[in-house]
Amino acid sequence: MKIALIGYGKMGRRLEETAAFQEHETVAVIDPYTKEKTSLLGALIEESIADSKNLGKADVALEFSKPDVAFENLKRLSDMQMPTVAGTTNWYDKLAEFKTMVETNGSSAVYAPNFSLGVNLFYRIAQYAAKLYNPFEECDVGGFEIHHKDKQESPSGTAKVLVERVMSEFKRKKRVVWEAVDRKIEAEELHFTSMRIGAVPGTHSLIFDSYADNVQITHIARNRYGFTHGALSAAEWLIAKPRKGVFTIDDVLNDLTLQAR
Ligand SMILES: NC(=O)c1ccc[n+]([C@@H]2O[C@H](COP(=O)([O-])OP(=O)(O)OC[C@H]3O[C@@H](n4cnc5c(N)ncnc54)[C@H](O)[C@@H]3O)[C@@H](O)[C@H]2O)c1
Repeated sequence: MKIALIGYGKMGRRLEETAAFQEHETVAVIDPYTKEKTSLLGALIEESIADSKNLGKADVALEFSKPDVAFENLKRLSDMQMPTVAGTTNWYDKLAEFKTMVETNGSSAVYAPNFSLGVNLFYRIAQYAAKLYNPFEECDVGGFEIHHKDKQESPSGTAKVLVERVMSEFKRKKRVVWEAVDRKIEAEELHFTSMRIGAVPGTHSLIFDSYADNVQITHIARNRYGFTHGALSAAEWLIAKPRKGVFTIDDVLNDLTLQAR
């Protein structure tokens, strides 16, 4: 695959490395604010999508920039019919507009707040576990997440999706309580807490507990490879056959898990 990187921050740099390791070629890099003239592996860094000389050489673009500029970048990529992996988070208030635009342009994109295949499999495992436990009145469910001290938001976006998936099956829980409580927790509250410390990579744990026993399922990210590998798998999937419209990582995962059967 020939890829274009839109945004050359932490994710852009790791994507370039992972792509090279998987024998993909980075043919364009666009970032208006990075100080370097060339990327770590020697691609020219250009300032804008509109003026790029190299973008047209790519099969697919991977957009990992900033929430306030992502939509404008995605719009330009869609206008030029560039299949796009939309990795930037927190622009989803414009998702409906984006879908209409992609449909009108006849272009294609795949988006996910978290491209890690491991995390997305973990969601499915958690949801299935919640479904299995749902009939057993004596069983309670809750959890926690831990991240490094530089993480911006709390709870993590991943924790929010995880809890949503669990609550869709575990019907006794009606509300989630994210913060510490100085009172008795109510039976219909699902308690899920956050901790920020040191350099801990993203850790999400879900606990099913009863008087008899305790089952815990945990996802621990070791590094950014989960994200870059998943984003590149989504890019491969997006261009593997002609596709039009906006897809999610679940569409990718459905096909990958089917192929593995
Ligand atoms: N979906 C996922 O799986 C996933 C995983 C990790 C991070 N993210 C998200 O990806 C985004 C980037 O993360 P990061 O850690 O690389 O951030 P970062 O701050 O390290 O890098 C962002 C880069 O975008 C550049 N940029 C700013 N304006 C731009 C523009 N108009 N066009 C192109 N580039 C521009 C900045 O100069 C910077 O180099 C964030 O929104 C983050 O939350 C998503």
